[in-house]
Amino acid sequence: MKKKKIGFELLVFENASELSQNDHKLLQEAMNARENAYAPYSKFKVGAAVLLENGQIVIGNNQENASYPSGLCAERVAVFYAGANYPGTTIKSIAISASSSEHEVAAPAAPCGNCRQSLIEYEQKQKSPISIILGSENGPIYKCASLEDILPLAFNSSFLSDS
Ligand code: THU
Repeated sequence: MKKKKIGFELLVFENASELSQNDHKLLQEAMNARENAYAPYSKFKVGAAVLLENGQIVIGNNQENASYPSGLCAERVAVFYAGANYPGTTIKSIAISASSSEHEVAAPAAPCGNCRQSLIEYEQKQKSPISIILGSENGPIYKCASLEDILPLAFNSSFLSDS
């Protein structure tokens, strides 16, 4: 038996002013996008901003539905929009920001498992990492270098065939 340790480097910023100009701008776009979330049921608004290699920023926010599972998370709204409108354009990074009208979101809100799975598909397809910037309302900001960091041992298309 062998033991393997899987780990990753998480950058922790005390506030947005410590971020690079590009990351700061992307997080600001995610915060702006959050405001247009349609979240009447959870009251938990999420915004996502995706930076493409051509400098274009694509945004998304969560869209809920009275039939709860029919809604979609902000990250997938954003990344599917990017895939639909800019096919073949590399995604460099995604910033995510969440807020609630019910309580303070003190810790950086991380993407759910379904969003990680959707996002890593693009990372593997484009063969280059997508960095992730996670904002909180007043607390720290997290950054990691790739989807693989936060979804190790991911299921992917290689399992579907023997080639
Ligand atoms: N939500 C997102 O938009 N992104 C996530 O990664 C986690 C959850 C949304 C879905 C739902 O509209 C609300 O937050 C509460 O779960």
